[in-house]
Amino acid sequence: MSSPGNPVLLLALLGVLVLHSVSAQNEPSINASDHITLLMDTHLPQITLQCNLTTAQYNHRESYWTKNGEEIVATRTELRTTEYKIMKPRAEDAGEYMCVYTFDMAPPANATIEVKSAPDITGHKRSENKNEGERAVLYCKSVGYPHPIWTWRKLDNSASFEIDNSSGRFFISNKDNYTELSIINLDINSDPGEYECNANNIVGNATMTSVLRVRSHLAPLWPLLGVLAEILVLVLIIVIYEKRKKPDEVPDDDEPAGPMKTNSTNNHKDKNLRQRNTN
Ligand SMILES: *[C@@H]1O[C@H](CO)[C@@H](O)[C@H](O)[C@H]1NC(C)=O
Ligand SMILES: *[C@@H]1O[C@H](CO)[C@@H](O)[C@H](O)[C@H]1NC(C)=O
Ligand SMILES: *[C@@H]1O[C@H](CO)[C@@H](O)[C@H](O)[C@H]1NC(C)=O
Ligand SMILES: *[C@@H]1O[C@H](CO)[C@@H](O)[C@H](O)[C@H]1NC(C)=O
Ligand SMILES: *[C@@H]1O[C@H](CO)[C@@H](O)[C@H](O)[C@H]1NC(C)=O
Ligand SMILES: *[C@@H]1O[C@H](CO)[C@@H](O)[C@H](O)[C@H]1NC(C)=O
Repeated sequence: MSSPGNPVLLLALLGVLVLHSVSAQNEPSINASDHITLLMDTHLPQITLQCNLTTAQYNHRESYWTKNGEEIVATRTELRTTEYKIMKPRAEDAGEYMCVYTFDMAPPANATIEVKSAPDITGHKRSENKNEGERAVLYCKSVGYPHPIWTWRKLDNSASFEIDNSSGRFFISNKDNYTELSIINLDINSDPGEYECNANNIVGNATMTSVLRVRSHLAPLWPLLGVLAEILVLVLIIVIYEKRKKPDEVPDDDEPAGPMKTNSTNNHKDKNLRQRNTN
C-alpha cells in the first residue's frame, strides 16, 4: 500500500506545516472590534472602535489609527489596547478605519474596522444654463461607505429613464464618491429638464436633482432685438404724431387769432391786473 516515496513526502509536508506554524506564531495578532453599520434612523450618541494587540513576538513601539488610509491626528499611544471614539457618528464618519501597531524589530501590523453608512449627497450642481450646441456638466458628490454605485436618470413628466451612452452625447464618469454627467452638443428640444443622480450602496441610497436649461442660439441677441423694437416703436409714434399735427397746424398758421391764443393773452392781462392790485 505504501510506496517508497511516501515517507519523504510526509516529512516534507510536516516541514512545511512546522514552518507555517512558526511564521504564524511570529505574526502579531490583533483583536479588533466588529464592523459597524450606521443606520439613518438611529442616532447613536457615540461609537467606539477598539484594537488589542493580543500576541506579538517583539515589543511594540506604539499604535495609531487611520481613516481611509490617512493617519488620524492625536491617536498615537504606547498602550497595547487602543480605542477611537466617534461622537454622534454621521455618514461622513463612515469609512475604512485601521489600527496600526509599529515595532522596533518587525514590520507594522494592522487590523481593519469598517464603519458603513448609506450614502449622503453633500454636493451637487443645482442648475446649469447653456446655449444649444454647447456642453453641460452636472455632478454629485457623496459621503458614506462603501463608495456608492452611481446612476443618472432623466425625469420626463411622470416617467424617468436611466441615461446610457447610446446616443453618443452623454458621458458619465465616476470616481468613488464623485460622479459627473457631461452632455455634449446640447439639443434645445430633448435635453432641458431635470436630471437625477442616484448613489446606491449596500446600506441605502440617496438622490439629488439638477435642472438643465438650454437657450436658443438667438438668446444673446434678444436684448439687442428689444432695443431695436423700442426704437422702431418710438419712430412710429413720432411719424404718426407728425402726420396728425400737420393738418391741425396748417390752418392755425393761416389764422393767427386762434381761440387758444386769445385765451392765453387774456390770462396774461388778468395776471398783470392782479399784480397791479397787490402793488
Ligand atoms: C476580542 O475582544 C473581545 C472584546 O473586545 C472579546 O470578547 C474576545 O474574546 C476577544 N477575542 C480574542 C481572540 O481575544
Ligand atoms: C487584550 O488582550 C490581552 C491578551 O489576550 C488580554 O489579557 C486583555 O484583557 C485584552 N484587553 C482588552 C481591553 O480586551
Ligand atoms: C496592513 O497589513 C497588511 C498585511 O497584513 C499590509 O499588506 C498592509 O500594507 C498594511 N497596511 C498598512 C496601512 O499598514
Ligand atoms: C472622497 O473619497 C476620497 C478618496 O476616496 C477621500 O479622500 C475624500 O475625503 C472623500 N470625500 C468625501 C467628501 O467623503
Ligand atoms: C460610456 O462611455 C465612456 C466613455 O466613452 C466609457 O468609459 C464607459 O464605459 C461607457 N459606459 C457604458 C455603460 O457604455
Ligand atoms: C432606495 O432606498 C429606499 C428606502 O430608503 C428603497 O425603498 C429603494 O428601493 C432604494 N432604491 C434603490 C434603487 O436601491
